Amino acid sequence: MQTFLVTGGMGFIGSNFVLKACKEQWASIINLDKLTYASNYQTLAELEQHPDYTFVRGDICDLELLKDLLEQYKPDAIVNFAAESHVDRSILHPHAFIETNILGTFRLLEASRAYWEKLLGQKRDSFRFLQVSTDEVYGSLNPTDPAFRENTPYAPNSPYAASKAGADHLVRAYYHTYGLPTLTTNCSNNYGPRQFPEKLIPLMILNALNSKPLPIYGDGQNIRDWLYVEDHCDALYQVLQHGRIGETYNIGGNNEQTNLAVVNQICTVLDQLAPKANFQHAELITFVKDRLGHDRRYAIDNSKIQRELGWEPRESFNSGLLKTIQWYLNHTDWVEQVQSGAYQAWIEQNYGDRNSSTA
Ligand code: NAD
Ligand code: DAU
Repeated sequence: MQTFLVTGGMGFIGSNFVLKACKEQWASIINLDKLTYASNYQTLAELEQHPDYTFVRGDICDLELLKDLLEQYKPDAIVNFAAESHVDRSILHPHAFIETNILGTFRLLEASRAYWEKLLGQKRDSFRFLQVSTDEVYGSLNPTDPAFRENTPYAPNSPYAASKAGADHLVRAYYHTYGLPTLTTNCSNNYGPRQFPEKLIPLMILNALNSKPLPIYGDGQNIRDWLYVEDHCDALYQVLQHGRIGETYNIGGNNEQTNLAVVNQICTVLDQLAPKANFQHAELITFVKDRLGHDRRYAIDNSKIQRELGWEPRESFNSGLLKTIQWYLNHTDWVEQVQSGAYQAWIEQNYGDRNSSTA
């Protein structure tokens, strides 16, 4: 079996990827994660005894740690999910985004290059570095613009998007300059189980369940393309297995929705699954001040990945959203832990001020 070094595997998409990789025996997994506020150790508690899973707490900015891990585990691929991922936070406090998303990716590339250059034969030929990126690097579309293609010029608008764009450019440069066998994916908005409740869909689900206002930025007509997280994970695996090195692949759900439509759909499902006695959930919708520099529309043209790798999204938005809402209804402990700060206390207790540790 192959070995993947996955970074950021305790976050939303990374944890779904790691679970799928272990369940479907894609590879044995080394999960390197700093355990920031956006992660949850309990998310992967079910893998603690799994023979093909190892967790390492650590920072992708720590070059010595990266070199040690590569030397020790000799992975066949690196899948870089680790990032600061929330646009609103990047507007308030951009620094961490530059550190992790740009400097962290740079360090990971440096360590990977040193490791890969020493590999021999088949192991060297088949090694891959996969950069998990976003459609936000392409900027904002007008209503009638064609969807983003792989050759759409980068035009990032938020500090988050700019930091991911910087990282993607470094990945590109490491392929062109050193021949490091890289792959880059640019994906649209993911939704599904285990997403931290600062993002639109889980925030709205949990606020609605708690009868709190549902804050919609601006006029609610901004458009996002929504993809179920497991479809994204399957696409990443296809890219790792069959993607052409040095290439980028766009990944999307063929599912453009206004924010207002998404929130109304959540409310309709909750009216059925968790009805309120005195009101309908949509009555909680509140229009609030717009996000600074708010991108109007994202849309993905999937034709390259479909044509070359045969991947297309499988989950419909209706069924994916239902599964997601049911997951949050059934995992109140997880929600309580990420919302109450109990998780940060747990990290302190278990890791103290150690920089990195294997569990
Ligand atoms: P997330 O915020 O849920 O998780 C990020 C994970 O990275 C967390 O577990 C965190 O602890 C870890 N991390 C942060 N800084 C780190 C560091 N310096 N070293 C090691 N680990 C660190 O993010 P997500 O939504 O799962 O996104 C994962 C990746 O996918 C990101 O690179 C993001 O840019 C990209 N992406 C996300 C979406 C989306 O809709 N969420 C869409 C396209 C691409
Ligand atoms: O497009 C991919 C990107 O999707 C990823 O790269 C990012 O990591 C991920 O966070 C996501 O970015 P968005 O900014 O699109 O996601 P967010 O869930 O924060 O917001 C989705 C839309 O909903 C956006 O137009 C802003 C709006 N919104 C968001 C929140 C949190 C609201 O109207 N109200 C809210 O409270």
